[in-house]
Amino acid sequence: MFGEKFWRANLSTNTYLINIAYTLMKHNNFWGKLKNNKKPFFCLAPMADVTDAPFRQIIAKYSKFTRNGEDRGGPDVTWTEMVSCDGFVRKDLLAYRKQGDVGGFPQTVQERLALSFIYDEIERPIVAQVFGGDPKTFYETAVYLSELGFDGIDINMGCPDHGINKQNAGANLIKSPELAKEIIKATKEGAGGIPVSVKTRIGYNKNEIDTWIPNLLEAEPAALTIHGRTRKEMSKVPAHWDQIAKCVEMAKGSNTVIIGNGDVKSLEEGRQRAEESGVDGIMIGRGIFGNPWLFNDKIKKEELPIKEVLKVLLEHTRLFEKILGSKKPFVLMRKHFGSYVTGFEGAKELRMKLMETESADDVDNIISQFL
Ligand SMILES: Cc1cc2nc3c(=O)[nH]c(=O)nc-3n(C[C@H](O)[C@H](O)[C@H](O)COP(=O)(O)O)c2cc1C
Repeated sequence: MFGEKFWRANLSTNTYLINIAYTLMKHNNFWGKLKNNKKPFFCLAPMADVTDAPFRQIIAKYSKFTRNGEDRGGPDVTWTEMVSCDGFVRKDLLAYRKQGDVGGFPQTVQERLALSFIYDEIERPIVAQVFGGDPKTFYETAVYLSELGFDGIDINMGCPDHGINKQNAGANLIKSPELAKEIIKATKEGAGGIPVSVKTRIGYNKNEIDTWIPNLLEAEPAALTIHGRTRKEMSKVPAHWDQIAKCVEMAKGSNTVIIGNGDVKSLEEGRQRAEESGVDGIMIGRGIFGNPWLFNDKIKKEELPIKEVLKVLLEHTRLFEKILGSKKPFVLMRKHFGSYVTGFEGAKELRMKLMETESADDVDNIISQFL
């Protein structure tokens, strides 16, 4: 009755189920472990054209340290820059990723978007952030993000950009709560056990946490990052941490991990915010500009010799050239120089010279002359 065919079929089904169970255990542990073991944990915010692969690798390298043989510091979770779900076709992206460096500027939308999905093992756990307005494309994207080995998938429901909002995506989803839930559901279905999280704001034109947050919690995201401003407020007013604290209350009793975001510039400030608001984790964005040591408790950038800061700036520039140099314009790297080179004698003149550079060798020459 139970021939070879039966056992073969059953064995592969069992192996498949074991794999799924393992994946679920591993990924549930990732958010659960953070919530239970470290309060607050710290996340590196997604920032388009800033937290790209080279900068994230530099952050991981200089923010991590070893104490008593254990790895410490660093962002506890890292986010990629946001990528449009609608923007690519699965086959093209996978082919591009497998090919590695194809040389020359990317020719297709898929190639350009795939650059945002380059990551290094040192960054784990790493979450890929996506945006869009169509559950179907979220499903498809989630399928291959899990194949690419990401630890999590995050849905952007906070971006204020008009072009993105017009696609019913980003902060616009605050105005379409049912669609937002459908998108979370579809992403989970495609994600194959990888945890799905959401990053959002406290409202569109006005504070809407009383309706918006419970709506999101109904869809049971693994984590919810709340940037404490409405879309209308952009980044013009201080983040409303009192409202983030209210969101924490709303999430009590759910399994969703809550991350607070807005204006945090240091680990000390983050710990203070977490104590006041009760969030599980803190996300830091602009505080990282020019300061890849930010997540390292043992180092204060202001206390580092200028030579060390400039050495890391050059290393960052060389890595940018290596990973993205043939694919993205050097002007993106120049944006970092102003943030690295500040607060010491001669900084202004050095900054002006660095702004004229076109390559890592140019940067090397100018820094050598300065030192
Ligand atoms: C240059 C820049 C790019 C950003 N890109 C993204 C993005 O791709 N996805 C996203 O969810 N938020 C993005 N944000 C918002 C940040 O993730 C973060 O929510 C915001 O800066 C507030 O945090 P902060 O005060 O710590 O900077 C971006 C912000 C900046 C300044």
